[in-house]
Amino acid sequence: MERRRRHLLDLASLPTGEIEHLLDLAESFTDISRRRIKKVPTLRGMTVVNLFMEASTRTRVSFELAAKRLSADTLNLSSSGSSTSKGETLLDTARNLGAMRPDIIVLRHRHSGAPHFLSRNLDAAIVNAGDGWHEHPTQGLLDCLTIRQHLKKIEGLRVAIIGDIAHSRVARSGITALSRLGAEVVVCGPPTMVPPGIETLGCTVTFDRDEAIADADVVMMLRIQKERLGEELFPSEREYARRYGLSRAVLERAARPDALVMHPGPVNRGVELDPDVADGPQSIILDQVANGLAVRMAVLYHCAGGEAAA
Ligand code: CP
Repeated sequence: MERRRRHLLDLASLPTGEIEHLLDLAESFTDISRRRIKKVPTLRGMTVVNLFMEASTRTRVSFELAAKRLSADTLNLSSSGSSTSKGETLLDTARNLGAMRPDIIVLRHRHSGAPHFLSRNLDAAIVNAGDGWHEHPTQGLLDCLTIRQHLKKIEGLRVAIIGDIAHSRVARSGITALSRLGAEVVVCGPPTMVPPGIETLGCTVTFDRDEAIADADVVMMLRIQKERLGEELFPSEREYARRYGLSRAVLERAARPDALVMHPGPVNRGVELDPDVADGPQSIILDQVANGLAVRMAVLYHCAGGEAAA
């Protein structure tokens, strides 16, 4: 049977049923990583190109490992060491890679919309691994999966997302997916870091951290995206930590004792999240990382047209 390739460009355009389907599919892939032989032949003969034009640890490594665990051939390309550093455009780079007929191209890029652009110009399935400030769909999925595993549901939960909302593709994918699945999402950050109109994605806004985390089932802290700040948006890191960071004292005073703490990583320790909270009993950060692998296996399988071929 001919496999029908699919893109994963964002969660906003994905029907809610498909989000739920990808979460269920990811759940079914979690078991493979617990086996002694962590490899299945599902994507044997297929080629996955990881094109990372921005820095990444978790996403890049887990896409590569996901492809390998599904027996696909993988190759990795980043801006340093590729002909991008000689001035080659994204489209030229992608077209040249496309000439070698990969099945899937996973793209991380600093420009919002770059994966959509490639999807209009190449035959390969395109997977968005984070585009500018826009979306990080596999992060949104892995966050939902992690919450669902711990709390057995998403509908009816209160999720607080705190930090640099303006520059965060994680926030946009998270708000979209969580609100569609029935969570009450509240976002919080300095007024300079909460964009006007963010409510249209399906959240409410407060500028008071303690109000945001009161009664929250999940507190998701976000990194200050220093690499995207064109100007100072808060007086100092010390002041930011005092008003918007999560310390043990704040967690104990303002949050429920069973509230879960999440962070997409990398963490600015001591700024948005204190080490004793990041590494403490309420933190599920490493579960997020583990689920990233299962989600990316599911997404590669889905984008390769796996269900159609099954
Ligand atoms: N969460 C996330 O995207 O991390 P990386 O930038 O390390 O991939």
